[in-house]
Amino acid sequence: MDTAYIGKSRKRVDGVKKVTGTATYVGEFKPNGLVHGYVVNSTIANGKIVAIHTDKAKLIEGVLEIFTHENLPEDLVHNVDYTDPLSPPGHPFRPLYNDNILYNGQPIALVVAESFELARYAAGLVEVEYQVEECSTDIMKNRDSATSEGVEDTAPNRGNPELAFTNAEVQIDVEYSQPRHYHNPMEPHVSIAEWDVDNKSFKIYDKVQGVNSSQKYICGIFNLNSEKVQILSPFVGGGFGSGLRPQYQLFLAAMAARELHRPVKVSLTRKQMFSFGHRPACIQNTQLGASKEGKLESIIHKAYGETSKFEKYNETIVDWSGMMYCCDHVKLEYELIPVNVYTPMDMRAPGGATGMFALECAMDELAVKANIDPLEFRLINYANKDQNEDKPYSSKELKECYRQAAEHFGWHQRQTKTIEKKDDTVLVGYGMATGCWEAMQQKSSAKAVLDSSGKLVVSSSTADIGTGTYTVMSQIAAETLGVSMMDVQFDLGDTSMPKAPIEGGSWTVSSVGSAVKAVCIKIKEQLVDLAKVSSNENLDEVSYDEVSCADGELVLPNGKSINIKKILKKAALDKIEAENTLEPEERQEQYSCYAHSCVMVEVNVDKDLGMITVPRVTSAIAGGRIINPKTAESQILGAITWGIGMALEEEGMIDDRNGRIMNANLAEYHMAVHADVQQLDVLFVEEHDDIVNPLGAKGLGEIGIVGVASAIANAVYDATGKRVRNLPITLDKIL
Ligand code: MOS
Repeated sequence: MDTAYIGKSRKRVDGVKKVTGTATYVGEFKPNGLVHGYVVNSTIANGKIVAIHTDKAKLIEGVLEIFTHENLPEDLVHNVDYTDPLSPPGHPFRPLYNDNILYNGQPIALVVAESFELARYAAGLVEVEYQVEECSTDIMKNRDSATSEGVEDTAPNRGNPELAFTNAEVQIDVEYSQPRHYHNPMEPHVSIAEWDVDNKSFKIYDKVQGVNSSQKYICGIFNLNSEKVQILSPFVGGGFGSGLRPQYQLFLAAMAARELHRPVKVSLTRKQMFSFGHRPACIQNTQLGASKEGKLESIIHKAYGETSKFEKYNETIVDWSGMMYCCDHVKLEYELIPVNVYTPMDMRAPGGATGMFALECAMDELAVKANIDPLEFRLINYANKDQNEDKPYSSKELKECYRQAAEHFGWHQRQTKTIEKKDDTVLVGYGMATGCWEAMQQKSSAKAVLDSSGKLVVSSSTADIGTGTYTVMSQIAAETLGVSMMDVQFDLGDTSMPKAPIEGGSWTVSSVGSAVKAVCIKIKEQLVDLAKVSSNENLDEVSYDEVSCADGELVLPNGKSINIKKILKKAALDKIEAENTLEPEERQEQYSCYAHSCVMVEVNVDKDLGMITVPRVTSAIAGGRIINPKTAESQILGAITWGIGMALEEEGMIDDRNGRIMNANLAEYHMAVHADVQQLDVLFVEEHDDIVNPLGAKGLGEIGIVGVASAIANAVYDATGKRVRNLPITLDKIL
């Protein structure tokens, strides 16, 4: 029996369940007496509800209740806490709280009926009279209202960047912009809430990226202790950040269930999936200066991000520019522009995908101006230390990413400086960019139970948003205790399990994975203690570290081994268990922990039609130890695909007259699909890191998208000679 799993490609342990439809997703639970809520959304972006007429809808047989701000339960109005663990500074949105309209798409009524269809039909009969006030949703038009109020600190400035820029031999001074992006996971947001009238407690199924965050939110609003609120989320059909904060359907389902004493399901439609949170629109000004030899002399990066009128959403956009490359003169600024939209939310590599888009395009522009190969230009300015914090990296194999990507892609063999014609109609171009993302570890807990049949059950209230948490945690547990993966069960998505952070920030493997490893080591230690009592071997002098685990046995320093099932039998124990909480080690503080990548792309541009295709992408990733190369590669493939969409297609369009999202559907909100993807090659560069966390794994959920849009934009320039600085690069912009 081979029980070494870490570093080996494994199929998803939940794969069969998923493809056979036996994995029960949140919206598929059917508690007895389930009724359905349908949300009515505002059609204006700013103003007040003058009247809301529900009488016609109420006449429909099967309609149970219609909730609006006029009949919101009294206890939810006063002294309630609507914050969640990720609430930015400001006042979180409170559904149905009063007659104020803060954004178009705001939920203003919930119709509850015996069936979804009835609820939806009746919702169409609700009539709303508004007092409309002027709204404003365009950040370009509202640049004057940019404010640093509520902005978290950016990395410190250094040197004299203005002067260094003026004196630089080679300069660029350009502006980049990008539109709103919407997460659009395949599974829409949905909550099913059950209220136990006697016990005054909730049991809620919620599509979310972390059950503990929904629990905190519900406890705060309904004034309940955490024992009274159980949140379950066993399978999640994609998140990308949309499930990092609890959404309004959770509140509505819980409120209605408590009032009606019936389980209530509120599921959002695809259109409604555009009615909360998005990657904010952003304007970025970059001034870069360098010597003729390509040494960076000044970096000035100012970003204007979008936020709502009620919360100050912050992203880390400009800090990357101070960290990535050696440069003595750096100025970083970040301001927010409040407009009449819902508060933006983290979306895959929040801030990084945005900030590195500008930086890596600007680096390309400067390299071209200095007449230096863009890869060479980055190597000239390569930073061995975090330039913002002057700290060493826990590890940084970015040079090796550059080398391997270049070799695999054939970077040095490409045709440059001439616009190569594939044939009479197609222009070919090549571009590259650097990627970077934080490698964070969060406090996490896990529990392990080993029974006498040899079955190991490990649990933690983390999530699997499709990334492979079930699989990877099973691998880590099985390898740590030296048992077969067949004997391991990993449970997640339940607030009754030991606490874990939300699944975000690419930190699940490093945080929960390390906690799983630690708790399995505790089980091993218990086994060693039991063996000391029951074994014929003299183990008195043997320390825990000297005992390893493999093939279902404890392996002793003398080479002999003891079967772990037999240890439990001899001790007459049905099971042993351990629970443990792991926090990052203090020594991490002395280091900067990041994953890095190099992205290289080829684009083809139709000379007459302006159509851009991406025949080839190579992404070389340094992400520490790769626990499961198969699921790891899938993360990067998905992220590259999304990067293609970011570069060429994705654009949330809002009608500035009324704040309405015009393309709130998957037909008109274009994103990269199978037809947009050709050759995508993912290389994992070997990187050893004993500091970043006990597993040495950096997390791969987000790094894959960073740099992709810039590499494509740079390649489009290489092909066409045109710099398109406002995403997406649609054909009209290059003709
Ligand atoms: Mo990610 S945007 O932290 O789900």
